[in-house]
Formats: sequence, C-alpha cells, structure tokens
Amino acid sequence: MIVALDHIAIAVPDLEKSIKRFMEDFGLTYKGREDVVSAKTSTAFFPLPETQIELVHPLNDEGPIKGYLEKRGPGLHHLCFRSDNIEEDVTRLKAKGYQFLSDAPSPGAHGSQVIFIHPKSCDGVLIELSQPQAGEH
Ligand code: CO
Repeated sequence: MIVALDHIAIAVPDLEKSIKRFMEDFGLTYKGREDVVSAKTSTAFFPLPETQIELVHPLNDEGPIKGYLEKRGPGLHHLCFRSDNIEEDVTRLKAKGYQFLSDAPSPGAHGSQVIFIHPKSCDGVLIELSQPQAGEH
C-alpha cells in the first residue's frame, strides 16, 4: 500500500542555483546533497511535512488543463506549496523577479486562494502557491 508521497524529483540544469531557490526563496529546510555515483546523478533533498496528490482534469471539457493535455499529454502538472500569507509571498517573490501567471491570487479548491508562478521562473516546473481558507489546515 502507498503510505506517503516520498519525494518529487525535478531535473535541473544548475543544481546550486536550484538549491538556493528552494532554501532562500521558498524557505524549505535543506537536508543536503548526495551524489549517487551508480546512477550518475547528483541529488539534493528538502523534506516537507504531509502532502496530497491532486488529480486535475478539464471541467466541462474546457479550461487550462484541456489545453495542457492537448499540447503535452498527461503527466506531472504542478507542485503546490501551502502559504500562510499568500499576498506577502507573492510580493516577496515578485521583488525577486519571479513571474506569475496572474496579477493576484484567485479562488482554488476548498475555498483556498491560489496563484501560479510561471514555469520559466522555476526550471520549467509550474508552481502553485495556495493559502487555505481559515479553518482548513
Ligand atoms: Co493544485
């Protein structure tokens, strides 16, 4: 049985730059680097508390997921970081040069407020920030 999401792997062209992003810009705890020589791969890990898998599908056969599926097919769509103050995080990241897909957060699932960082700003990975509705989490 599946007991946890162990990790999500992102292929990055500049490991030091990406480590800095996750530590300094996103404020995650850095567990360290490990070169897996047998796999000819350098790894870096950032442990996180509990998470969820979200399946996303076009509603009424329209919307951004429809375009994504037509263009790129099924696959990993985005990572979502929970925020306790999304306005503050957006302001901070915009000041660091991050581009967002919209000007301001908009409604997401479970009454949350969400905003997406452009994949161009994050090594090709679409990253969502989500602030849960008060009372949820
Ligand atoms: Co999401």
